[in-house]
Amino acid sequence: MERTFVMIKPDGVARGLIGRIVNRFEEKGFVIAQAQLLYLSAEQAGVHYAHLKSKPFFGELVDYITSGPVFAMILEGHQAVQNARTLIGFTNPIEAQAGTIRGDYALIVDSNVIHGSDSVENAEIEIKRFFG
Ligand code: RTP
Ligand code: MG
Repeated sequence: MERTFVMIKPDGVARGLIGRIVNRFEEKGFVIAQAQLLYLSAEQAGVHYAHLKSKPFFGELVDYITSGPVFAMILEGHQAVQNARTLIGFTNPIEAQAGTIRGDYALIVDSNVIHGSDSVENAEIEIKRFFG
């Protein structure tokens, strides 16, 4: 069964959305294989967002993702990576459709509530990074 890594970001945790978001994944049919509340170090955040290092918003992105605890999960299910990305919705909440997590719970790309791995390969790398 395919696995993916998803992480409710600090704004989602602070707003009390863990339960509602976990519920969405469960209703969709995913199995929550592991879950943990954790803090990202600035170093971990830099590695996690290495693909965005050249962007002008990189510093703010690292500050944001390290600003409080995140709720990290390993989800299992059929084509888990793509199914989770579809349920999460487009990166910019303005483009994310109603019914998706970002479409329903976020207004702005800077604080878009949740992360989901973008490929099977990256999912395995991120699972190792955050769950060992
Ligand atoms: P994520 O990794 O968080 O699941 O998001 P994603 O794949 O949909 O998007 P990605 O390109 O990996 O970007 C990671 C996070 O960087 C922030 N971002 N801000 N201001 C901007 O234009 C901008 N672009 C990206 C978002 O928080 C995005 O989730
Ligand atoms: Mg991404």
